[in-house]
Amino acid sequence: MRNIEFKARDPEPARTLELALALGAEDRGEIAQTDTYFSRARGRLKLREQEPGEAELIQYRRADAPGARESEYRRVPAADAPGLRDALHAALGTLVVVEKRRRLLLHENVRIHLDDVHGLGTFLELEAVAAPQSDLATERDKVSRLRAELEVGDDSLVPQSYSDLVLDTPDLLLRAADEAMRNAHAPYSQFKVGAALRAPSGALYTGANVENASYPEGQCAETSAIGALVEAGETEIAAVAVVAEKLDICPPCGGCRQRLSELAGPDTPVHLGRPGGEQRTFTIGELLPLSFELKP
Ligand code: THU
Repeated sequence: MRNIEFKARDPEPARTLELALALGAEDRGEIAQTDTYFSRARGRLKLREQEPGEAELIQYRRADAPGARESEYRRVPAADAPGLRDALHAALGTLVVVEKRRRLLLHENVRIHLDDVHGLGTFLELEAVAAPQSDLATERDKVSRLRAELEVGDDSLVPQSYSDLVLDTPDLLLRAADEAMRNAHAPYSQFKVGAALRAPSGALYTGANVENASYPEGQCAETSAIGALVEAGETEIAAVAVVAEKLDICPPCGGCRQRLSELAGPDTPVHLGRPGGEQRTFTIGELLPLSFELKP
C-alpha cells in the first residue's frame, strides 16, 4: 500500500480538533498505541499494539523529508502480539518503544491524527491512502488543501518518524554505543571503544574496536559500525555516537573522521560522552573541515 503523508508539531491540538470538526471530519475517537520498533530491519519494522483495535506488524519505507511525502507500507494482522514481540526482539533486537494517544478523524479518505506522544509532545499527521493505480496527484492535492485549512505552517513540519525523534536524543545513541563497547576486543591497548550509527531509515548499527596481535591491523569502533551499516544495505549516516571506557569524551581518530564523512554530511551530529553522563555534540564538518573528496 502507499500513502501521502506529513507530520507537524501541533502546540494547539484542541484548536486543530475544532477546525477539523468544523470542516466536517468524522471523529473516530481516541486510541492508545504502543509501537515497538525493531533493529536490523531494512527500512522500518514496528509492531503496533492498540486499545481499542487489533495488533499489527507494519513494515514501511519512507524518506526523511519535510512536507508531504510518499510512504510504502505493509500491514499484517498479529494474532499473538506478545509472542511476535518476543520473537522479533530475540531475532532482531528492539530499537525503541514509542507510546502515544491518538485521536483519529477521517476527512474523505484522509486520516487526521492528533497524537500526544510520550516524551515528545503533541503532533498532527495527515495521511491520504492512495488508490491502487493512482499517480498520487489527487492524494497530494487533498493533503495540501487540508493542510492549508488546518493552518499548518512550514516551520512546524517534522521530517522524521517518532522513533527517530526519540532516537535522536544523544542518550539513546550513546547507550547503544556503550552496549557495543562491552564486546570490544582490545587486549593490547586495554582501551575499549563503542560506536553507534543511525541511518536515515531509523535503523541503528553498532561496532566495537577489534585489535590484532599485528598492531596496525586493528580497527576502530567507528569502522566496525560503518561495516555493519553498509552490509545492511544502507548508504547514509544520519547521526553518530562514540563511547570509550577510559575517556569521558573520546573524539574519533582522524582516519575515522574521513571514513564517517564518506557517508555522513557536514551537519551530521557526532555525540561523544556517556549515557546519562558528560556529553558533547559536534558536527562532522567541525571535526573534519576540508575533508578529502574525489571530484570527477
Ligand atoms: N579507537 C577507536 O576505536 N576509535 C577511535 O576513534 C579512537 C581509537 C581504538 C583503536 C584502538 O583499538 C584503541 O582505541 C586504542 O587506540
